[in-house]
Amino acid sequence: MKSFRIREEISAESEIICCENAFERLTDFHGLIFTDENVLALYGEQIKAHFKGVPVFAMPAGEEHKTKETLFALLEACAKAELHRNDKILCIGGGVVGDIGGLASALYMRGISCIQVSTTLLAQVDSSVGGKTAVDFCGVKNLIGAFHQPQTVLVDPAFLKTLPARELRCGLGEIVKHAALDGALFDKLNANRDKLFDLDFLAEIIPDNIAIKARVVQADAREAGLRQCLNLGHTTGHAFELVDGSLSHGEYVLVGTIFEAEIARRTTECNGAYLDELCSLARTVLGGMPSLPAAERVAALSRLDKKNKSADTVSLVAPVRKGEYKLLKLAYSEYAELLTKVEKEVIC
Ligand SMILES: NC(=O)c1ccc[n+]([C@@H]2O[C@H](COP(=O)([O-])OP(=O)(O)OC[C@H]3O[C@@H](n4cnc5c(N)ncnc54)[C@H](O)[C@@H]3O)[C@@H](O)[C@H]2O)c1
Ligand SMILES: [Zn+2]
Repeated sequence: MKSFRIREEISAESEIICCENAFERLTDFHGLIFTDENVLALYGEQIKAHFKGVPVFAMPAGEEHKTKETLFALLEACAKAELHRNDKILCIGGGVVGDIGGLASALYMRGISCIQVSTTLLAQVDSSVGGKTAVDFCGVKNLIGAFHQPQTVLVDPAFLKTLPARELRCGLGEIVKHAALDGALFDKLNANRDKLFDLDFLAEIIPDNIAIKARVVQADAREAGLRQCLNLGHTTGHAFELVDGSLSHGEYVLVGTIFEAEIARRTTECNGAYLDELCSLARTVLGGMPSLPAAERVAALSRLDKKNKSADTVSLVAPVRKGEYKLLKLAYSEYAELLTKVEKEVIC
């Protein structure tokens, strides 16, 4: 068992525990269980048997339900169950359940405690670490949210046994991103390329990933500086995601990582052999390069990305050497040109 503590100035301490039999750690739970219908179909019996008499609210699964309607339906379920200040919301699910449940617990009675049992790879290595909560609003992802650290996060890799391969690949997108920020994880992934989807191998590297993200978040809880590094692969990945939408978020992060590595190669001092290895690792996870929309359309959308503070420049966290990245600010026209160039020269 490995556990991590995140302590920062904003809110109470959060503990992330990697363990087996997550439910067994939650004895005498008072509050409400929040999950989605897929997770309920798979684990409902186990949940009901362990948490006897605890009310359960299940949302329909999927990002399209990460809405204010689901948030308010959950808050209403909390009120109807007469949750009190000392009660907790127990979120059992992936990033969608964690983000909505976390926001509801930040809002209900001006803040009650939240416990998360993360059941997707993405939630285990990324979304449940750091205390960001949100719902999508007015067509914008995560537009409304709050920083609210969960009291406890339980990470039990046994849940991954029922997770479809596509969702594993999605989590692996963020794992490769972490590897681009941390040389030791990069070496581990590279040495085990044939095991990237193997659940025992994933169970071994989940704690490494939590530690990497926790370290960054702890140093910069409000995203003033260092936390930006977690956007590696995301500026370009996100723009592809907005134009196309047929791949998963993690797959776009992998595509974005490849493009941003190639942009680094063409604009700044970097280690070319390392970038070759990183791109080939990302391609291995993707299972080859997927068909993508034209880079020209993608560039146009990146101009609107909220992370780019000004419409005329684009900010990228570009990988440059093992464990090292560099913040690149490119004029929009240069970025657009580079994307098209990379598309022509590398992506075929
Ligand atoms: N808060 C953060 O810092 C942060 C960081 C990254 C991503 N996110 C958010 O996370 C969300 C994506 O999370 P996700 O990828 O976990 O998506 P998700 O919660 O939609 O889960 C993906 C799918 O897997 C199903 N599922 C969950 N656990 C399962 C299991 N054990 N077995 C079988 N199926 C299972 C779900 O029902 C769903 O259909 C996005 O909304 C994103 O914005 C938040
Ligand atoms: Zn991401």
